[in-house]
Amino acid sequence: MKLYYSSASPFVRKVMVCAYERGLDGRITQVPTKVLPTEPNREYGKANPLMKVPALERDDGTTLFDSMVICEYLDSLPGGPKLFPAEGERRWSALRVQAMANGILDAAVLTRYETAVRPAQLRWDAWTQGQLLKVDQALDVLEREAAKFDGLDIGTIAVGCALGYLDFRYADRNWRATRPQLARLYESIARRPSFEKTVPKA
Ligand code: BEZ
Repeated sequence: MKLYYSSASPFVRKVMVCAYERGLDGRITQVPTKVLPTEPNREYGKANPLMKVPALERDDGTTLFDSMVICEYLDSLPGGPKLFPAEGERRWSALRVQAMANGILDAAVLTRYETAVRPAQLRWDAWTQGQLLKVDQALDVLEREAAKFDGLDIGTIAVGCALGYLDFRYADRNWRATRPQLARLYESIARRPSFEKTVPKA
């Protein structure tokens, strides 16, 4: 399988963490892929018309995206312990937490483009503040719920990737300052080999 890849993308990280946790990393060839909204990568658009990473090209040539679908696909393959609870409340809870972490990342990545790529005279402060409010509110909800998180699953993996991205791009906002439960969760998750091998790089 080929994974279209960027070493800075937290969504790619989530996929690779799942691959390592399930012992599938050896089956994945990483293809470095440049994606920038202002410089459409049309060649890559043939594999993923949305021109976002990650996308996973399977051995039959079909391509899966986005990270939620790829992670669930990897979970369906034979391998180590499952990361998606099969049914019931545990499943809904893990999917909800994954959606919350992905929402944090959507807002944080869009804001990163706004502040690092968009020319200064075109920036829209109210929009940026609205995105950062989403990040802060979702972190506060996760902080209240973190004590109940129970082991490694797709929800806690996604939260780990979101917190790692905030450390990578938003260290100055210091998410830990008011969120001791999340800090504790992150400390234990970041020590796992799957997280240590996928630390984001510029
Ligand atoms: C980043 O540089 O922050 C980034 C790169 C690719 C995807 C998402 C984020």
